[in-house]
Amino acid sequence: MFYTLAQKVMFQMDAEKAHDFALSSLKRTANTPLNCFYAQKVESPPVVCMGVTFPNPVGLAAGMDKDGECIDGFHAMGFGYIEVGTVTPRPQAGNDLPRLFRLMPAEGIINRMGFNNKGVDNLVANLKAAKSGALVGVNIGKNKDTPVDQGKEDYLICMDKVYQYAAYIAVNISSPNTPGLRSLQYGDLLDDLLGSLKEKQKELAQKHGKYVPIALKIAPDLSDDEIVNIANSLVKNNFDGAIATNTTLSREGVSGLTHGNETGGLSGKPLNSLSTSVIKKLSRYLNGQLPIIGVGGVSSAADAMDKLDAGASMVQIYSGFIYQGPKLIKTIVDACRIRQ
Ligand SMILES: Cc1cc2nc3c(=O)[nH]c(=O)nc-3n(C[C@H](O)[C@H](O)[C@H](O)COP(=O)(O)O)c2cc1C
Repeated sequence: MFYTLAQKVMFQMDAEKAHDFALSSLKRTANTPLNCFYAQKVESPPVVCMGVTFPNPVGLAAGMDKDGECIDGFHAMGFGYIEVGTVTPRPQAGNDLPRLFRLMPAEGIINRMGFNNKGVDNLVANLKAAKSGALVGVNIGKNKDTPVDQGKEDYLICMDKVYQYAAYIAVNISSPNTPGLRSLQYGDLLDDLLGSLKEKQKELAQKHGKYVPIALKIAPDLSDDEIVNIANSLVKNNFDGAIATNTTLSREGVSGLTHGNETGGLSGKPLNSLSTSVIKKLSRYLNGQLPIIGVGGVSSAADAMDKLDAGASMVQIYSGFIYQGPKLIKTIVDACRIRQ
């Protein structure tokens, strides 16, 4: 009810202004009695994924809370885990405005944010300040002005700084909004990146006496051969998990809509079946050797079940959450509980 009203107001505003307003309101009200407007009890079927026990299988996808400012607020809504980031070593402004667009009739979103974030040191301060005990995945990336062939260093810097505060680390090489980033998904660059991150993980696990799993977040715009190669590289490098998928460059289902031709990544309902088909293929090639977190267009319990049936162990939501609010978390968790 409250979200329906809040959404009516926010959908009258520019999309990014609405996002900033929502996050600042959440930040101010978290851990106060005012969180009664969005807090809900979600009865959990806990799920073990990548060796971590998550209180329920519905997570917040990366990009909503890039700087980890609202961890306690999102936790109160009932998310089983919250993926913050993408964070980069140094703060960066991201692309020029406007860069975020609602495609209302399709329940889609196009964004070309470009990893706007306040940098990894600020994120670490927010991770330390969070009070709720939420499980937080940290999604890491590279600064725009770091050349792609030196991108690995940025991932290693971020990993080093967030390691001890993270439930898992997500390696984002699949955003379409940082030039060249997606080239890290292929061949030697990918193998080298995954191998170096695993080496670093070994060193940090020893240093902190804690094993934090690392997952690779991939794009939906991959050929079958590319999916096979990624699967092989994940297995070869003993990676802990995969997150499928990021936003798509495809415009299927949105042509002719207002904003349908904006540059950037498309998410929400129009992405759903593409993302599920990538999960299905990846799952076939991985053959259970590592788990998949399914994301992309989940806007109902049925969509979430499709992702689980395709081979995912847990799901994440972003666009569906914008269009439906916190009730979507409960709807999916309830369906998972009934199915157990
Ligand atoms: C505005 C916006 C910003 C995003 N920023 C990031 C990001 O920083 N890092 C990332 O890995 N994914 C990012 N994503 C992608 C989401 O995490 C998710 O993979 C994608 O939106 C598909 O899920 P959905 O259809 O439920 O939105 C972003 C998505 C949106 C809509």
